[in-house]
Amino acid sequence: MATTHKTKTAGLADVIAGESAICTVGQGQGLNYRGYSIQDLANQASFEEVAYLLLYNKLPNRAELARYQQRLQSLRTIPDALKETLETIPATAHPMDVLRTACSMLGCLEPETLFLEKKLQQQFPQQHDIADRLLAVMPSLLLYWHRFHADRQRIDTTLQAASTGEYFLTLLTGKQPDKTHIDAMNVSLILYAEHEFNASTFAARVAASTLADFYSAVVSAIGTLRGPLHGGANEAAMALIQRFQSAEQVAPALKDALARKEKIMGFGHRVYKTADPRSPIIKAWSKQLSRQAGDTVVFPVSEAIEQFMWSEKQLFPNLDFYSASAYFFMGIPVALYTPIFVCSRITGWAAHIMEQRANNALIRPGSRYTGPEPRAFVPVDQR
Ligand code: COA
Repeated sequence: MATTHKTKTAGLADVIAGESAICTVGQGQGLNYRGYSIQDLANQASFEEVAYLLLYNKLPNRAELARYQQRLQSLRTIPDALKETLETIPATAHPMDVLRTACSMLGCLEPETLFLEKKLQQQFPQQHDIADRLLAVMPSLLLYWHRFHADRQRIDTTLQAASTGEYFLTLLTGKQPDKTHIDAMNVSLILYAEHEFNASTFAARVAASTLADFYSAVVSAIGTLRGPLHGGANEAAMALIQRFQSAEQVAPALKDALARKEKIMGFGHRVYKTADPRSPIIKAWSKQLSRQAGDTVVFPVSEAIEQFMWSEKQLFPNLDFYSASAYFFMGIPVALYTPIFVCSRITGWAAHIMEQRANNALIRPGSRYTGPEPRAFVPVDQR
């Protein structure tokens, strides 16, 4: 891992912390997954094609895609021991904590054993299987827990649904989802799938660089995604939007919030400085879903927040902002917003874990010491 800076930068901003062939975020090329633009992928691909692209480094042909969809469908079973764990986790737990725990438990039940034997040779014969398994089962784990506590139902997670979006929405409601909702969810999953060395992906790579097992790296990533400065922003953005009953209320309240130096969630970005290329794509879907739902409040309020933040601070909405209202119109409970990010970003995390392992060096940066000068030890009775 080469670092171009010897000087400190807050939060490693602008530090090149490694090489990756998976994704460009800006870098003069826009947002591309393995060279394909996010606009083309969102307009023309299914999430499963994008997952295959990230995990297997090529777009699948029709036969490969059909086989891959079948494969994912066959990997949605939850072991009984894990169902018991999910039933034990309190209804009051945050669903991100549920996913973190469930992923960890799956790592105990279906460990990366061959890796454990062969890690010193850096061979990882099970890693693609584990990546596919986690991709397939993440919505099952989340919604098994959710429905058990919300509806007292032990749902069948093996039901047939071709796409991850359809599967997610069907498990959530127990009904056949609306076609527009399935399409919007497909796009949302594509937009969230990968984003270079963001905090959670970097956490996954740090864990992988110690030759920890695959599940440990994913658990590290889930924990890192949870915070409101990262994945938790979509939930926080919805809480913000729901503070307002009309667009007129937005400007005075946000003026006060900014005066108090509050961060407005769903705005700004560490890498993008003028716009997030994913935002117009999800905004268009949010608008369509708003119309379909007959909404006259949430979307106008969202646009008012966007206009205010731009005119006041030149801050633009990131992906999380309009994802929040899109999920709202689909009837998804707010606490499940960040977990949807997990169901998608597992693809990017897995691709990065594999890439890290393929050319590994322990990630261990230095720090600039700011503590006391060396000094004499004082025995406990003399302090
Ligand atoms: N609301 C209000 N002010 C914001 C802001 C926001 N969402 N995002 C950035 N700013 C302001 C900061 O207060 C700071 O102002 P200052 O120079 O007057 O102190 C300036 O813009 C730079 O912000 P900073 O936090 O240093 O930039 P960063 O690169 O470290 O932060 C984020 C990037 C994403 C952490 C930050 O924009 C943020 O906290 N956004 C809200 C959370 C969010 O949506 N996260 C999801 C990201 S995809």
